[in-house]
Amino acid sequence: PKQSEENLRSPICCIMGHVDTGKTKLLDCIRGTNVQEGEAGGITQQIGATYFPAENIRDRTKELKADAKLKVPGLLVIDTPGHESFTNLRSRGSGLCDIAILVVDIMHGLEPQTIESLNLLKMRNTEFIVALNKVDRLYGWKTCRNAPIVKAMKQQTKDVQNEFNMRLTQIITQFKEQGLNTELYYKNKEMGETYSIVPTSAISGEGIPDMLLLLVQWTQKTMVEKLTYSNEVQCTVLEVKVVEGHGTTIDVVLVNGVLHEGDQIVVCGMQGPIVTTIRALLTPHPMKELRVKGTYVHHKKIKAAMGIKITAQGLEHAIAGTGLYVVKSDDDLEDVKDAAMED
Ligand code: GTP
Ligand code: MG
Ligand code: NA
Repeated sequence: PKQSEENLRSPICCIMGHVDTGKTKLLDCIRGTNVQEGEAGGITQQIGATYFPAENIRDRTKELKADAKLKVPGLLVIDTPGHESFTNLRSRGSGLCDIAILVVDIMHGLEPQTIESLNLLKMRNTEFIVALNKVDRLYGWKTCRNAPIVKAMKQQTKDVQNEFNMRLTQIITQFKEQGLNTELYYKNKEMGETYSIVPTSAISGEGIPDMLLLLVQWTQKTMVEKLTYSNEVQCTVLEVKVVEGHGTTIDVVLVNGVLHEGDQIVVCGMQGPIVTTIRALLTPHPMKELRVKGTYVHHKKIKAAMGIKITAQGLEHAIAGTGLYVVKSDDDLEDVKDAAMED
């Protein structure tokens, strides 16, 4: 079937893992940005969202000569903090996604928040791939900027390859101890039962094409039904924040449906339901992080899936992690308020 017939929304991918494994840096590498260096203490403290249009993914993966067509409009990636104090944000992120990237530092193996993340994913039966990051730290690693991982691996000396294999084997054993079968993605013949590992470097970009292609191919191959666009608005508040010139705003992830400027919405508030009207629908530019202050694009309407900043009156007491509801012309406002407060 043609793309127009399938009408898929962008898959939502959450990036999770222990603190400092390189989650934000991996996204920086794909975006060509420097978000990580601007973070206080180099620590992520909020959930972020970045939209990657299909054309960027196509461009980034062209060396892999994948014949599979991209049927999804893009990929929406949710960044989460790895610091132990942000379990609630990891839970919020993982609860929203269609697929996840679990990032493991090849020099450290599985760490406490790797296992915590793993358990969140298991609990919800969420598909994921493992990014085995920081391969450039293997002693003697030869940089092959942005190369597919098999090509990069062939350029390495026997010593580097041996160290890689030794660490990989240890990490596969650690996953086994958590009850999971894992394997290098290009050796994995039982996708779905055995989780795929993609070696990456967020500094020099090796393995990034593989990671992107794997996400897109796997979601559009196995999640067509889930990714088929639906008109029913499904939207979650990620963060509530004051933005200079905009007052209190909410960052949301629109999973399905369309939002319009002027829509009457209801969100859960600390002092009861908040009924308000969307004043502005803002997004960062494609490949830019929603949580970083920058220039916003104004929209009259936005179709899912997308990370959006909404400005409206009365959002001061909105509660992050809850649903956003649109009041349609035939809805009873009281019912919508009840639904919002159930979250
Ligand atoms: P939190 O969000 O705070 O949990 O951390 P994170 O997982 O987002 O890691 P972050 O991107 O902040 O990177 C942590 C540190 O590791 C930074 O100093 C990065 O420069 C470094 N780093 C990340 N990825 C790589 C990599 O692939 N290779 C090397 N050598 N360093 C990396
Ligand atoms: Mg981070
Ligand atoms: Na960090």
